[in-house]
Amino acid sequence: MNLKRIGVLTSGGDAPGMNAAIRSVTRYALYNKIEVVGIYRGYAGLINEELTILSHRSVSNIVNRGGTILKTARCPEFMTEEGQRRAVEVVRKNNIDGLVLIGGDGTYRGGIDLSRKWQIPCVGIPGTIDNDINGTDSTVGSDTAVNTALDAIDKIRDTATSMERIFVVEVMGRESGFIALQVAVGGGAEEVIIPEKDFDFQQLCHEIVEGNLRGKISWIIIVAEGKARGQDIAQRINEMTDLETRVVVLGHIQRGGVPTARDRILATRLGTVAVDLLMQGQSGKAVGVISDEINVVDLECAVAPRKPQVDVLYNLIKILT
Ligand code: ADP
Ligand code: F6P
Repeated sequence: MNLKRIGVLTSGGDAPGMNAAIRSVTRYALYNKIEVVGIYRGYAGLINEELTILSHRSVSNIVNRGGTILKTARCPEFMTEEGQRRAVEVVRKNNIDGLVLIGGDGTYRGGIDLSRKWQIPCVGIPGTIDNDINGTDSTVGSDTAVNTALDAIDKIRDTATSMERIFVVEVMGRESGFIALQVAVGGGAEEVIIPEKDFDFQQLCHEIVEGNLRGKISWIIIVAEGKARGQDIAQRINEMTDLETRVVVLGHIQRGGVPTARDRILATRLGTVAVDLLMQGQSGKAVGVISDEINVVDLECAVAPRKPQVDVLYNLIKILT
């Protein structure tokens, strides 16, 4: 396909490494003599025609920066027929031959509509800290988020052990226990509560009380926000065990910061693959990496219900506590 001009946007929750992806898409497209239009604020910017031409220099010095220079947004209007019609008009009016969509599963669902219903060529790059997209071992931003949360948990451990307290730490992950499980293993937590696993609260309290009798006083319990609120868990533990309990909600700090090497490299690789696919005339695809090899799936497959393999890490926590 003779591609003259593509658009790139970031949408949904920002994730560290999105900038590295924008840089890669831009420079690789320009290298292939394709013009690049940056679309601000995801689908909202598309509807409102908030566009800018990206040059080689527009993406200088961003490979190491968190957030996204194109800004991002959640856009309910794009979920309506009228909103999508307006977005498509903007694409056509500006002679954009294809779109690179950097975001999570919601962004991909928008891409399914654009490509299948409106015949706008689209390729998705997974950009979300939740790591909840099929067809890739890792999404851009998830490695950084895990390391950010782990850094905080290491600090919590210092005070937890010194003051012999129970800490409940709530981490992000809309419907995904990915961050929780990773930091629970990496941070040596005593318990993890995730959406992918049933959880027996009585059993936890029993273990805490038993441990307490044996002299184990300090606990770190990680809770994925998609399963329960840290505040509720902490309060219930305190009520049932009468032990001093504190809660920390890590919140949006997990979305910021300098992307790790892994996220930058992943984003950079995927940016070039996305442009390659558009140049080949492909559409409705999502790019990823599995076992260090590039992997391409349909957007529908990328957002299909998932069955993440959590048992190995989950059991490790139980064994090593
Ligand atoms: P993420 O991409 O990080 O999962 P969201 O779920 O907020 O973030 O989705 C980002 C945007 O994608 C939404 O604000 C909306 O504009 C669009 N979107 C989400 N779901 C759909 C859908 N089912 N159909 C069309 N567009 C959608
Ligand atoms: O999808 C990324 C994410 O950070 C989730 O982990 C979290 O539940 C959600 O976004 C928070 O969204 P908002 O920034 O709109 O509060």
